[in-house]
Amino acid sequence: MLNHHKEDTIESILQEERVVSPSSNFSINAHIKSFQDYEKLYKKSILEPESFWENLAAKELHWFHKWDNVLEWNPPNSKWFVNGKLNITYNCIDRHLTPSRRNKPAIIWEGEPGDSRILTYENLYVEVCKFANILKQLKVTKGDCVAIYMPMIPEAIIAMLACARIGAVHAVVFGGFSAESLKGRLKDSQAKILVTADGGFRKDKIVPLKSQVDIALENNSSSIEKVIVVRRTEENITMRNGRDFWLHNLQQNISTDCPPEIMDSEDTLFILYTSGSTGKPKGVVHTIGGYSLYTHITTKWVFDLKDTDIYWCTADIGWITGHSYSVYGPLSNGATSLIYEGVPRPSNLGCFWNIIEKYGVNIFYTAPTAIRSFMKMGEDIPQKFDLSSLRLLGTVGEPINPEVWMWYYRIIGNEKCPIVDTWWQTETGGIIITSLPGAISSKPGSASLPFPGIIADVVDKCGNSVSRNTGGLLVIKNPWPSMLRTIYGDHQRFEKSYWKFLSDKSDKCMYSSGDSARRDTDGYFWILGRTDDVMNISGHRLGSMELESALVSHHTVNEASVVSVPHQIKGEDIYAFVTLNNSFKASDQLSNELKQHVTREIGAIARPATIQFTQELPKTRSGKIVRRFLRQIAAGQSIEGDKSTIVNPNVLNELEEQAKWLRNNNLYY
Ligand code: WT7
Repeated sequence: MLNHHKEDTIESILQEERVVSPSSNFSINAHIKSFQDYEKLYKKSILEPESFWENLAAKELHWFHKWDNVLEWNPPNSKWFVNGKLNITYNCIDRHLTPSRRNKPAIIWEGEPGDSRILTYENLYVEVCKFANILKQLKVTKGDCVAIYMPMIPEAIIAMLACARIGAVHAVVFGGFSAESLKGRLKDSQAKILVTADGGFRKDKIVPLKSQVDIALENNSSSIEKVIVVRRTEENITMRNGRDFWLHNLQQNISTDCPPEIMDSEDTLFILYTSGSTGKPKGVVHTIGGYSLYTHITTKWVFDLKDTDIYWCTADIGWITGHSYSVYGPLSNGATSLIYEGVPRPSNLGCFWNIIEKYGVNIFYTAPTAIRSFMKMGEDIPQKFDLSSLRLLGTVGEPINPEVWMWYYRIIGNEKCPIVDTWWQTETGGIIITSLPGAISSKPGSASLPFPGIIADVVDKCGNSVSRNTGGLLVIKNPWPSMLRTIYGDHQRFEKSYWKFLSDKSDKCMYSSGDSARRDTDGYFWILGRTDDVMNISGHRLGSMELESALVSHHTVNEASVVSVPHQIKGEDIYAFVTLNNSFKASDQLSNELKQHVTREIGAIARPATIQFTQELPKTRSGKIVRRFLRQIAAGQSIEGDKSTIVNPNVLNELEEQAKWLRNNNLYY
């Protein structure tokens, strides 16, 4: 058993793994103070889950009407706090309008050009009510969907909360996605209203969001009736009469009061699209009650949030991390949540550290890909800034390499901040596996242990637990409040994608994460990666199929197979194998054109690093492309595994030769 309470912070255990324990000073002041406290809490949560969640729901949230049942579980369908009535914005705003919190900053916003705004809870209340009244004026009613395609500015959060205030469902689409991606999501969500901006500042450039919107809405092909446009960059844009409205015009003479709609616990709060292993993105549906509670309590315990903390999660609100840990979790706790419009860039490599120094940030939550790029820039950049306000660090999005973890711990945390490595997914709504900073020692590279209320396990293909230190599928064996309820418009896909052994006895039914993992002898989880054809590029999920469809939609392309290769900063990078239609010839020019085409179709995050043209792809007799070999070829590894299933094994050697040539000619990255 590990000693979770050590003053000297690093020790070696048998397997030569480092263990980093919080200082006793941190633990004494933490919400969860010791490993024994965690174990007690965990045991109770598993033995009596309903009373565990019920007590928290009653203590931590405001309900207009209490629930009848805590949980109705008909695998894979769950209902939490059945017939309970609440409004998440009441919990995130109204209840903080007390003499002591009313004037506390709810949101500190820093724009990329250096402008900034602070919204107190009182200010946020007024802005959300005004926006909510505007939505009402535009005939948005309970249950309608509103799409949000925005830069990281306060209005993005205000728009989300305004929807929740009146019971509308929001569907935020990441501002880095292209018009084509936006269009697909608008169509699927059947959104009525779209909220956007004239643009945003990112990497010293203007992101032309409105022109992407105009393309997405061409031919009136979507259900969008009206577009609300926030002025941010003051760039010239075209406004379509009768369809597009400036927010500042709509705000004239609008009431600053809008009572929260009384919502059912199981009403939908939002849809958020994420990539799966087939072409079409999945609209993950989250409902209000369970999501409210789970994001609230994970924010409080995992980030050990205190009333005085300045908390900064660097995620964009276009991703689940932004939803749960920049908006709903922190605000529900009455915290100060910092948001930043921009990203580190050549003209301002130290911008993150500058912001930490400027506002005295205490809790900092970011992605391994960002930490790797900081590492590459060199430690002298962060060392120019005063980071002494930091007391806790976090990571999310992909496995963090132990050396990167140590760098984060030493250079950013000055060896005094615990690091929480949080494993979770869009589908889980909140953090599932993590250390609790005052109670659970960290092992660099491991996401540690399940959060109270979660039974996580590693199983084989038949659903049996594997022994310690053996790899397998990472599953969750019980329902939890913020689990996804369905895939929007496709409940069958929900059942198929995530639930294993559904038709077996119900006690074997389990949520399958799509990740593989192993547990060590202390029960710690080590995430190994995806088991499906989903790639993780800079902590963002991209489906191979989605990329392949984008490539094949180009008139020159006959067939495409996309795999990922390891990349120093991004974690993984995209490598595409492409066959061309007869009359077309491979060239550098075409390669660039295809890369651009993918950027147009999906967005810059999906741009392939390498395109390898080929006459043929390795296939099985049934015509399935064998990605396993393509992965090895792309990564420059020797080809291993059974080649007998391939109809045309010669193609492998050809592909290998070509790949070598590409690498030697520096066309690789
Ligand atoms: C996938 C989920 C949840 C917010 C960010 C991404 C990978 C996430 C970790 C971690 C190892 C991680 C998994 C997961 N992942 N966090 N701490 N360690 N891998 O959300 O886009 O839904 O992606 O990200 O592969 O399945 P997402």
